This record gives sequence, C-alpha cells and structure tokens, in this order.
Amino acid sequence: MDSILVKGNGPLNGVIPIAGAKNACLTLMPATLLSEEPLTLTNAPRLSDIATMTQLLQSLGAEVASMQNGLVLAMSSHKVYNHTADYEIVRKFRASILVLGPLLARDGHAIVSLPGGCAIGARPVDLHLKAFEAMGAELELRDGYVHAKAPGGRLRGAIIEFPFVSVGATENALLAATLAKGTTVIKNAAREPEIVDLAVCLRRMGAQIDGEGTSTITIQGVDRLGGATHPVVTDRIELGTYMLLPAICGGEVECLGGKMSLVGAFAEKLDAAGVSVVETERGLKVTRKNGRVNAVDVVTEPFPGFPTDLQAQMMALLCTADGTSVLEEKIFENRFMHAPELVRMGAKIDVHGGHATVTGVEKLRGARVMATDLRASVSLILAGLAAEGETVVSRVYHLDRGYERVEEKLRGVGAQIERISA
Ligand code: EPZ
Repeated sequence: MDSILVKGNGPLNGVIPIAGAKNACLTLMPATLLSEEPLTLTNAPRLSDIATMTQLLQSLGAEVASMQNGLVLAMSSHKVYNHTADYEIVRKFRASILVLGPLLARDGHAIVSLPGGCAIGARPVDLHLKAFEAMGAELELRDGYVHAKAPGGRLRGAIIEFPFVSVGATENALLAATLAKGTTVIKNAAREPEIVDLAVCLRRMGAQIDGEGTSTITIQGVDRLGGATHPVVTDRIELGTYMLLPAICGGEVECLGGKMSLVGAFAEKLDAAGVSVVETERGLKVTRKNGRVNAVDVVTEPFPGFPTDLQAQMMALLCTADGTSVLEEKIFENRFMHAPELVRMGAKIDVHGGHATVTGVEKLRGARVMATDLRASVSLILAGLAAEGETVVSRVYHLDRGYERVEEKLRGVGAQIERISA
C-alpha cells in the first residue's frame, strides 16, 4: 500500500494551479440522468471519486467519456436501462446517493443502496429521503436499499424546509425538483459554491431556478431538460489547503484560479493568524510575514462560515502557533482523528467532544503517521512539511480521492515529497 514520505525543507515558494472542485463535480455528474441530451463538464478534477462516479453512472446505462487527459467529461444518458445503484459501488463513496433524485425525477423509480457509516460521522441520509417524500415519492427501506417510486411516474413540487443545513440533501432535492410537476421551494438550503455551480449548470440545461446561494431556492419544474457544456467551479478546499503551505512553512505561494469569494471566512482566520492573503490577476497570493503565526479560535459552520473540510489542515497550522487555539467542529461528530497523529509528531492537542485545544509548540518532529480520512491525510502532509526530519503518511488512498497530482504540485513549490510503497 502506498505511503507518502515528506521531509521538512524550509520555506515554499512558487505557483500552484487549483483544479475543478471534487464536491461540485460529484453533484454535476448525476445531472446527466435528467436529460437525454449530452452534458459536457470541463475543468473536471482527476480523482478516484470521479472515476467511481463514472463507474456508477455507466452501471445505470449512461455514457461517460473522459477526454483531454481527464479534464473533460462528455456524458449522455439517452438510455438508462438500470435503475439500481449497487452496494458494491455505493459503499466506495457516499456521494452516490446523489443519483437517487435524478433517477426518480427522470423515470419515477429507483433503487439505491444506503451509503452506510463513515470515519468522520454517522452521516445518515434521512433529510434526502424526507425531501423526496415531500415531493410525493413512496419510499421503502429493504435489505440496505432505498426502493423509491413516484406515483404516476412523476414527482410533484413541494415546500421542503430542512431542520438544519445539508449540502447533499439540498443538491438531491434541487436535482429532482427540476423535472417535478409544479414549484418546489427549498428552505434553509445550503449555500455552498458547489450548489451555486449546480444551479448554473441546470439552468444551462433549461431548468428554472432562483435563489441559489441564499437559504431559499425556488425551482419551477419543467417537462424536459436539454444538454449543456459547463466548467466545474474551482475547488475551494484544495485552494484552502495549498494556501496553508506558506503559512505553515514560510514563503510565498500563488494559487492559480483562487478567488477570495470562495474562501472568505478561511482567509479571515489566516489574516488573524498573521498570514497575508492578496488577490492577484491569476488567483490568490499567500505570504507568511514573519516568525510564528498567532493562535486563533475556529468554529466550523456551513458556507459562508469556516468550512469543516479545512478544519484538519488548519489544526496542522495551529500546532506551531504562538499561543493556544480552540477548534470547534460543529458539522461532523467524529472529525478529530488527525489529532492523535499530530500528537505523534510532537503537537500538544487535547480533544474533548467537539472541541480541540491546541497549544502551539516551537517545532514538530517527523514520525510515521496514519491517514484516517481525506482531509486528515493532507493535514498530516502539511505538518510533515514543517517538521524536523522525515514523516511517512500511510493509507494515502484517502488522499487520491480528493487531491490530484499532490506530489507534483508540492514539488513545484520546493517541497521534498515522494510516494513510496511501505
Ligand atoms: C458534503 O457532504 C461534502 N461532500 C463534505 O465533504 C462536506 O464535509 C459536507 O458537505 C459539509 O460541508 C460532498 O459534497 C461529496 P451534509 P454531505 O449533508 O452532503 C448531517 C470532503 O472532505 N445529515 O451537509 O454528506 C450529516 O451527518 C467531504 O470532501 C443528516 O443528519 O454533508 C452532517 O453531520 C467530507 N441527515 C451534517 O448533516 C442527512 O440527511 C452535514 O452534512 C444529511 C446530513
């Protein structure tokens, strides 16, 4: 099994191109099921999760061709002959639940395996199912699968009010509502940039949508959708991750394609920590001004708040901050598994429930550590780049799910990093 070896090597300098967003692409791809005409995505990220979504769509009958070295996904669903999303694919990644809405909306029936648990939390899909029931679907849970039917073969518009914000449930309801009979209003909707990107793409296909990016989205259902070509929005989580390189190691890095609007709350915390972030013509330039960063407190929240997907990486920075920081994880109930691994590198971290208290130390030391999930894996690499000596991060298959060409991109700014089989 692959591991990644990193050696602390001082300040990092240069430019890093930021890819299209994994979490946008994973909700854009199922939109192909809503139309019989081609949907082409450009600026697609080259990741194992995208390959798995491709496999899932192909298992339903969709055609998905990857072109231009994987940057372009040409999809077409003029015939969908299978309406069952099999456990063998679904168990590999949770976003597969996002085919349920489009299949139901397209043909009025679908059978989708329940995703099961996850390292960072229980992650149920009850809000997704309640949204479809509100749109008239009849659901039955049997043998680990959701069996869904829309009486009369078509969903109907509905008022859907989520008790708390869910990115996935908002996306699934939005996808399904485009072909429902009548108007759907999603209240307390998620406002993430990936949802705005989905709405823009669906509108290109002929959908009638208003309010994306706010807490209330209104969709006027239509009888059919056309095709479109759509560029995937920049990956704000990859962006935030690489903005931390000069913050942790010193130096100056320009992230090409970055925009302040994608990382507002995160950039504010970097500024409070004493790290400068400026917008350039090409992206965002990040510079660590002087010695140690300041300690800052962080609370994860839905967008536009501080993203939970940058919490682990921010913890890696705060391990060597001047002072004590408190991180509160409010989105997932078990998302501090990187903390004990950072402690193996000499960090001082005390986790109690949803809070982690990080007392900054002068320097981390390299060690053998284990990745437990996608964002935890990259936080350990960031910590290793700032540590004395060598760090070996095992189970990096997690990393490949969400970061393309990591070694190449990091070596481009002077990092000492290589993939080893250990
Ligand atoms: C999306 O997951 C992202 N994944 C996650 O990124 C991200 O952490 C999360 O949104 C929050 O920003 C993708 O887009 C593929 P939620 P999602 O529904 O949609 C609970 C990464 O690292 N909940 O907003 O699953 C849930 O358990 C990944 O790229 C229910 O209880 O997140 C969680 O505690 C990790 N019932 C909270 O809501 C439901 O039906 C927020 O989950 C749905 C969610």
